[in-house]
Amino acid sequence: MKFGYFDDANKEYVITTPKTPLPWINYLGTNDFFSLISNTAGGYSFYKDAKLLRITRFRYNNVPADSNGKYYYIKDGDTIWNPGWMPSKTDLDSYECRHGIGYSKWNSSKNGVSASVLAFVPTDDACEINQIKLTNNTQSVKEIKLFSYVEWCLWNADDDMKNFQRNFSTGEVEVIGSTLYHKTEYRERRNHYAIYHVNSDIDGFDTSRDAFLGAYHDNHDPEVVTNGACTGSVAHGWSPVAVHQINITLNPGETKSFVFVLGYCENPDNDKWESKNVVNKAPAKKLIEKYSTDADVEKAFDKLNEYWNNLLSIFTVESANDKVNRMVNIWNQYQCMVTFNMSRSASYFESGIGRGMGFRDSNQDLLGFVHLIPERARERIIDIASTQFENGSAYHQYQPLTKRGNSDIGSGFNDDPLWLIAGTSAYVRETGDVSILKEMVPYDNDMSVATTLMEHLKRSFDFTVNNKGPHKLPLIGRADWNDCLNLNCFSEHPGESFQCFGPSEGPVAESVFIAGMFVKYGEEYAQLAELLGDTAEAERARKEVKIMYDTVLESGWDGEWFVRAYDAYSNKIGSKECEEGKIFIESNGFCSLAGIGVKEGLAEKALDSVKKYLDCKYGVMILQPAYTVYHLELGEISSYPPGYKENAGIFCHNNPWVSIAETVIGRGDRAFEIYKKTCPAYTEEISEIHKTEPYVYCQMVAGNDAYIPGEGKNSWLTGTAAWTFCNISQYILGVYPTHKGLSIDPCVPHGFGDFKITRKFRGATYNIEVTNPSDVEKGVKELYVDGCKVDGCIVPFTEGKTSYNVKVVMG
Ligand code: BGC
Repeated sequence: MKFGYFDDANKEYVITTPKTPLPWINYLGTNDFFSLISNTAGGYSFYKDAKLLRITRFRYNNVPADSNGKYYYIKDGDTIWNPGWMPSKTDLDSYECRHGIGYSKWNSSKNGVSASVLAFVPTDDACEINQIKLTNNTQSVKEIKLFSYVEWCLWNADDDMKNFQRNFSTGEVEVIGSTLYHKTEYRERRNHYAIYHVNSDIDGFDTSRDAFLGAYHDNHDPEVVTNGACTGSVAHGWSPVAVHQINITLNPGETKSFVFVLGYCENPDNDKWESKNVVNKAPAKKLIEKYSTDADVEKAFDKLNEYWNNLLSIFTVESANDKVNRMVNIWNQYQCMVTFNMSRSASYFESGIGRGMGFRDSNQDLLGFVHLIPERARERIIDIASTQFENGSAYHQYQPLTKRGNSDIGSGFNDDPLWLIAGTSAYVRETGDVSILKEMVPYDNDMSVATTLMEHLKRSFDFTVNNKGPHKLPLIGRADWNDCLNLNCFSEHPGESFQCFGPSEGPVAESVFIAGMFVKYGEEYAQLAELLGDTAEAERARKEVKIMYDTVLESGWDGEWFVRAYDAYSNKIGSKECEEGKIFIESNGFCSLAGIGVKEGLAEKALDSVKKYLDCKYGVMILQPAYTVYHLELGEISSYPPGYKENAGIFCHNNPWVSIAETVIGRGDRAFEIYKKTCPAYTEEISEIHKTEPYVYCQMVAGNDAYIPGEGKNSWLTGTAAWTFCNISQYILGVYPTHKGLSIDPCVPHGFGDFKITRKFRGATYNIEVTNPSDVEKGVKELYVDGCKVDGCIVPFTEGKTSYNVKVVMG
């Protein structure tokens, strides 16, 4: 069942009922100011950091779900309704929510009045714009009242929901005309405040939540709206809100438009005040002035659309498959941008106060983002590398505002260092900018011990070389990619962190998955060394890679598939010897995509086993059979009920690894079959089962052992976005950036047909036409660049050349 449809021409998903199985959200914002916004206008805004600079309040885990947002109440006689349906939940005569690229729109109507709302964050300013247009579609004059409503968060979202003994006394506001200022804590250590403004005279305001809602009411029936009159409350402590009241007369056929601006403003420390305890309003006035008319809004909206159209023109495909076109050209790249911006911090499943930027996560997010804005990827790589330790290990997470490593979680996740090589290599292959490798980068933010980025990568590489276990496989530490495979934890008491408890640097437990990573990214490290002319280092790296390759075949092969790991007693995990958890996806996907066992025919065997044991209707499960009891020696993985999350759920993130591995051995049919299983454009049809947004990937879909297989969770912030984009663009469609130029080597399913790709790469536009006259899955028979035949499948890069016409004949 569907709850809407794709409007590809407008790059929108159109939701046709507010009653979606879960809130279906969108993200507004491109740089520093962000809003999460659901199809019922729920959500919240923050500046740079969802924990430390939260602007509006949202209630996670609330009943009803998705309560608190930027709400507009329309009071038309005794009827009170909201264009987004929530929170009054008054039945609407018509409702439509269009989630677009960086904006959301509503078109709703009730009793002859229609409301259209456009919400977006402009590219240049720290604010969200809401333009609301009200039209009288009846033959008589309408007297209606419009109330806006946001609830301020007292900045630190974590403190905001815990420290009531202080917080109920700190709230402060100022009201000047139609601008409501939120200035809590401004008198002391903050130099920022927020505003909520409307470009019209107002007929009332409220800034005290209690005054607006009334005792024992909530936002679905605020007393002020029911009574039709604001009280003019000025919040002192308790919970400050911002409410405007506008009384509107609409003649038959008439439309009136209002522009609301929710803004974040900063002042220099020495220029905070206009007069004693009166905030300096200069930045607010500038913002208000800039967005004061519909024409201003249209200009900013056009600019946002132009920004996105430019970005989305960097990689486009035209194939006979609409679903592939839609995901590649619009939604998958959009999600890559969002995951790059948010890492794992703020979604409807990530509270914004828990996980900040992940070392491993952000490096992977880069893989799907780097072609869009390479300069931002560059900056991110330096930020991430700055949280590395001198011995090559790394903080697992850091806070986006401070860019400092998070010591609560610390380090010891032994895959982390290698992801830095992955991210950097992707950046250098994309841009050719080797200067990044020579940048001086601190360790643990300490500039006195800075070295070049290349030295950081060397330490990443050597961290694996120097931390091997009894089988000469990499030690796993607290966990590898799978945060829940905690082989050194042995936690027996609730409340202990599975990751942080126990001896983090266990000397025995080993990861075959990290071995696969080492083989893949060790080779990429060697190529970077070569680029810098350090052939000795490249040679050393390749020797180590070869040793690891052989070790995997010797101690990481189980007869039909790759072993997953060895536990702290050196027992195999992910082996036929195990009772539960006999086979895992990670080692099989990653070792095979790294090329381990390809020439020996083992990768093919492993992938056949994956299909045989891990495949299900909704994707490839992470392991089988599911763990049915808690295994002290395995940790969190066995804590989940069977079929969920890391215990035999479908972790969408590593489905593309298997699909990529299939392209490595040339099986386009199977690669595409896996691609389709988790692809939102395909799962849209089963939205009632899948539940999460049909335009983006979610982290996890319940596996066969679950109560409801196919049910998705944790949408938006997942490495799935980047990996799937790499899979479809670089491996299935086959356009892969190498140091020497673009390689074009598709691996497609039978019947996929001919297709065209436009790819902007290092300042040039590549118009690529792929024909497949013999309908093969893989193989480039001929490659022509500007009419000249070229050997192999790499289009050689020529500095200064701005356009390439490329023809590829598969066969
Ligand atoms: C984490 C990833 C991890 C994955 C599997 C996600 O929640 O953000 O870093 O690889 O879970 O455990």
